[in-house]
Amino acid sequence: PIGERIADLLGRMSVEQKVGQMMQVDAREDLDGQVLDRHAGSILHASPEHVARAHDLVARTPLRIPLLVAEDCIHGHSFYEGATIYPTQLGMAATWDAGLVERVARATAVEAAATGIHWTFSPVLCIARDLRWGRVDETFGEDPFLIGELASAMVRGYQGGGLDDETAVLASAKHFAGYSETQGGRDASEADLSRRKLRSWFLPPFERVAKEGCRTFMLGYQTTDGVPITVNEWLLSDVLRGEWGYTGTLVTDWDNVGRMVWEQKVQPDYAHAAAAAVRAGNDMIMVTPRFFEGALEAVASGLLTEHDLDRAVARILELKFELGLFEDPRRPDPERIRACVGAPEHTALNLDVARRSLVLLRNDGLLPLTSGATDPEGRAVGDGTPRRVAVLGPLADDAQTQLGDWAGSSGQADWLPDGQPRAMIRTTLDGLRATVPADWSVTYTPGAEILTLEPNPEGDRFPDGQPRWPVVVPAPVDEDQLAAAVEAATAADVAVVVVGDRVELVGEARSTATLELVGGQVALLDAVVATGTPTVVVLLASKPLVLPPSVDRAAALVWVANPGMQGGQALAEVLLGVVEPAGRLPISFARHVGQQPTYYNQIRGQHGDRYADLTQEPAFVFGHGLGYTEVRYEDLRLDADTYAVDETVRVRVTVRNVGQRPAHEVVQLYVRDVVSSVSWADRELKAYQRVEVAPGASETVDLALPVAACTVVDAAGERVVEPGAFEVLVGPSSAPETLLTAGFEVRAG
Ligand code: IFM
Repeated sequence: PIGERIADLLGRMSVEQKVGQMMQVDAREDLDGQVLDRHAGSILHASPEHVARAHDLVARTPLRIPLLVAEDCIHGHSFYEGATIYPTQLGMAATWDAGLVERVARATAVEAAATGIHWTFSPVLCIARDLRWGRVDETFGEDPFLIGELASAMVRGYQGGGLDDETAVLASAKHFAGYSETQGGRDASEADLSRRKLRSWFLPPFERVAKEGCRTFMLGYQTTDGVPITVNEWLLSDVLRGEWGYTGTLVTDWDNVGRMVWEQKVQPDYAHAAAAAVRAGNDMIMVTPRFFEGALEAVASGLLTEHDLDRAVARILELKFELGLFEDPRRPDPERIRACVGAPEHTALNLDVARRSLVLLRNDGLLPLTSGATDPEGRAVGDGTPRRVAVLGPLADDAQTQLGDWAGSSGQADWLPDGQPRAMIRTTLDGLRATVPADWSVTYTPGAEILTLEPNPEGDRFPDGQPRWPVVVPAPVDEDQLAAAVEAATAADVAVVVVGDRVELVGEARSTATLELVGGQVALLDAVVATGTPTVVVLLASKPLVLPPSVDRAAALVWVANPGMQGGQALAEVLLGVVEPAGRLPISFARHVGQQPTYYNQIRGQHGDRYADLTQEPAFVFGHGLGYTEVRYEDLRLDADTYAVDETVRVRVTVRNVGQRPAHEVVQLYVRDVVSSVSWADRELKAYQRVEVAPGASETVDLALPVAACTVVDAAGERVVEPGAFEVLVGPSSAPETLLTAGFEVRAG
């Protein structure tokens, strides 16, 4: 039994070995010393060579305790050359398809496990409310329910049928909890959250994946109520381990323990910082090299007991035993790597997810450009009218942006290895060239630059040695490039302009003060739209951006969150009508950066909750997304008028396709608590279902709403169902005018 094996091992480990076991070290820094002299328990950011060497080193240690190999495989096996890169989490969220998300996680686990990875730092359960935050792309968006659904699917996909399966990898729910609630959108700033607010919105997705069996949780970088998360005993011990009974392993974020000393200055030295972190419930300490000396000193001085260490070490050893690493350390397997990394079936899955992740935001009827397009199998689509397509924009052929952040090729920092071979990637330009019929022409000119990078005046390293990002300088308008784009657009039947952001404007420690398009992009859009050539604007952007007024005069607008390697092919197919647009927004689009936040489920405000100079309505609401057909929602009905708290409301609605093309609808169900004891959201997503309806047909969709889900968190911080009147709202988005409404009562007692 594992318990006995752990007890036996703990009995044979020295204090040094126990402290080392709690350390997760950067494989690129003195690997030999970390494993042989400091007894490291885990490595991260390890190349296959590092992994092989690390296992060889372990074989030379007295107890031969295997290493846990960890990596950020967050939308594919991000740091392995040739691995499949899928849409970012935000892109995956736009599919509203948990089954698809689970398949991506499974495929990622298969690739990662073959290369010797045991543990991925995914999924992200942060709620993206301030669009300026640099890590919005890593989230599933703004709704706790959707986040919980998709994150659970991802956990199931990673961990597979059980940890003893050689293709299973440990999942990590991050960043616990409230990290995204930043000040001014700035990463790793104070998260000003009451316990009630945490319980209302930020904790439920984490509780959900804890119940799903997610084996590890990772902390964020935030401070709440003056307490860095690393030592927040209420969250880590009382709530997570106490109330939820979570028995998994907790890992800090990068150097969280050191930061309390050298950055946040809430601990006088490493001994106190190490002691506080361990006592609060952390098990694995990510990249704080001086934790070793600090923890030993803490034990020597009585700040920590060996029993405190044993608790943490036991949880780490448990994972290693469950993975079977003592019997087989799961080294990189060249044969499996050849068979599965970048395998055709994973490329096909990438294409499938990318197709479903694209969101058609506006269309005056120009799309689809069906005439004569062919699908990837060469079948003709449409009527064969020849067209001249001008592909424009600095991102139309930008492979790196298409992959997004946390993809090896992003080139954002010197610690990222080289990434994907260009040949595996299809940009928008590649996709259109490959998909238009032979008698169409495709011309390309970028028309604008976005930015250049300059060395950071504060130096290229932080005091702890981590890289400091270069400074982003917006590119000026280049008149020659602009003139070439205008000429190309004027000579074309249709212009496709691909604009957006780049990885230098996205990511950890890279939040943005603005949301506008950077560099020459606005001038490009203005000039192309002014030519009068029907224009499709493609926003290839990691997160919702604010668009200039000329976009309102364009014929169509599509949002593509970094869609992965096959994203350009997917986009071409949607533009040409080979496949239907199927994505829905998992996050709202703002009209102006000053509107932040614009999430749909804010508490009901009062008369003054608005601006004098701008509507507070977002540009596009949560749940919005168009297809190429017309759909009507009819005949919303419930199976009763009143319900007890333990009953389920059966909701039925008819979805009728009155257009000419197939409908790919996401039927969304929101709940409104008509009068609540506390200020609460006007409506909250509680269920949804994807449905396909043929032209001219209708489908009846059944949705289940457990009354127990119709809760508020009351003034005492308790999650309760308050008896009384409720409304069910069903439709194609969260916008009230698109929703059908039916009322029901919840009985007391
Ligand atoms: O997993 C990440 C985390 O999300 C942010 N800081 C670094 C970790 C390891 O790379």
